[in-house]
Amino acid sequence: MADYESVLKGKYPAKAHCEKVVAHLRNALDEKDVPTTLYLQGQTTHMQEDNDEAAPFRQRRHFLYLSGCLLPDCHLTYHIPTSTLTLFIPPSTPTASSGPACLSLPPGPLKIRHRRLPHLRRPPLPPPRTRRPRHHPLHHRSWRHPPPPSDLTSAFPTLNETTLHPTIDTCRVTKDAYEIALLKKANAITASAHTAALRKIPSATNETELVGQFLCTCVSAGAKKQAYSGIFGCGANAATLHYQHNDEVLSPSKRVVLIDAAAEWEGYCADVTRTMPLHPEGFDRESAQIYVIVEQMQNACFALLKGGVKWEEVHELAHEIAVEGLLSIGIFKRGGEGDDRKGEIMRQRTSVAFFPHGLGHYLGMDCHDTGGNANYEDEDPMFRYLRVRGTVPEGAVVTVEPGVYFCRFIVEPYLRDERHRRFIDEEVLERYWDVGGVRIEDDVVITKDGYENLTTAPKGIEEMMRVMYSEADG
Ligand code: GLY
Ligand code: MN
Repeated sequence: MADYESVLKGKYPAKAHCEKVVAHLRNALDEKDVPTTLYLQGQTTHMQEDNDEAAPFRQRRHFLYLSGCLLPDCHLTYHIPTSTLTLFIPPSTPTASSGPACLSLPPGPLKIRHRRLPHLRRPPLPPPRTRRPRHHPLHHRSWRHPPPPSDLTSAFPTLNETTLHPTIDTCRVTKDAYEIALLKKANAITASAHTAALRKIPSATNETELVGQFLCTCVSAGAKKQAYSGIFGCGANAATLHYQHNDEVLSPSKRVVLIDAAAEWEGYCADVTRTMPLHPEGFDRESAQIYVIVEQMQNACFALLKGGVKWEEVHELAHEIAVEGLLSIGIFKRGGEGDDRKGEIMRQRTSVAFFPHGLGHYLGMDCHDTGGNANYEDEDPMFRYLRVRGTVPEGAVVTVEPGVYFCRFIVEPYLRDERHRRFIDEEVLERYWDVGGVRIEDDVVITKDGYENLTTAPKGIEEMMRVMYSEADG
């Protein structure tokens, strides 16, 4: 059994999260301003417009963090003086089953209490307070849109949303063992889906078939939701950072296919990108060169990781490796004797043309998780889209996702700007447009002295080719 499975036999640490949030509030506020009770409402059921079905449900992340509850129409309170976490769930009443919502009838309290147990024939559980939040069905006629219990809203009217919200955002940055186990499980399923999609490449004729293979693998493994809208792009589509059509014909002349897709497991996201050759003989020369550069970028960044690392420095290192790589293959013109060509290109930010996004982001209940303090107004284009700023603490989970792309829409303005154009050899560049783009993305947890890679999907040219062909018919 995988190590994370034994951790997941335990309980979601909702109460520990409440305590963490309260400790942060106590640090930030005068004691007199610390509330006695936290009250949060979960996501309510929403109907689709002009339709009698509910819209896809996604639990509010702050609510999930403090409750572990993935059901709609719930509320929670955390009474700080007594450390009491209480979950209010909608009742399962006969009236509820008479309408369209009967399809999503909530489980009763017993089922909730058992949700994370491996099977139901376990010895009797300890009292609910020690295992899960206490819960009370809400006796309200329209349970699908229950208002907060009135005694709560009148008794605790002044909970400070503007303080609580960013406090939870910050608490979510560092993950505990249970959250890491959830992220490992999401990654394990994601790895099997990437493997299945990889094996499908030799016989697939359209990007849609890779999507189908990927989703089939995730759902069959119990992961019914994707962590984000997947990207399945071949050739030039790989250069579109958030390509969503995922329906173009695959042909070896398109050189590469980039798959950026991942499963969600019980509200926690993986985020994994792999770029593979489309041609049965593997990458062509140009694609292989770009793959190796991106691999070098990622490996160099990995080597810097440890608790307290400054994320801007890691991102900058990725650019430096990209510049060295693009100089070595001649896309950036080499300087004369004694020129600091790499330094000049770095100072002008010309590499942003080919690596236009941030190196990575926090990962957790959201794919782009909270607490990164991005500055999208930054005047420096190298850091404008960096979703994590400042130091990365031990226990944080980040993606490391360098890429090199040949996107006309992004690169061509650089070719019209003399500041950048003088560094770029357009004749050499001409051979690379068809590569599209290469990105390699793994999820890592930052440790005191390094990192642990949570991502297990096949990676590297040799391994991907082995998986793609030797097991293609297996
Ligand atoms: N993999 C999706 C993203 O990071 O934007
Ligand atoms: Mn990502």
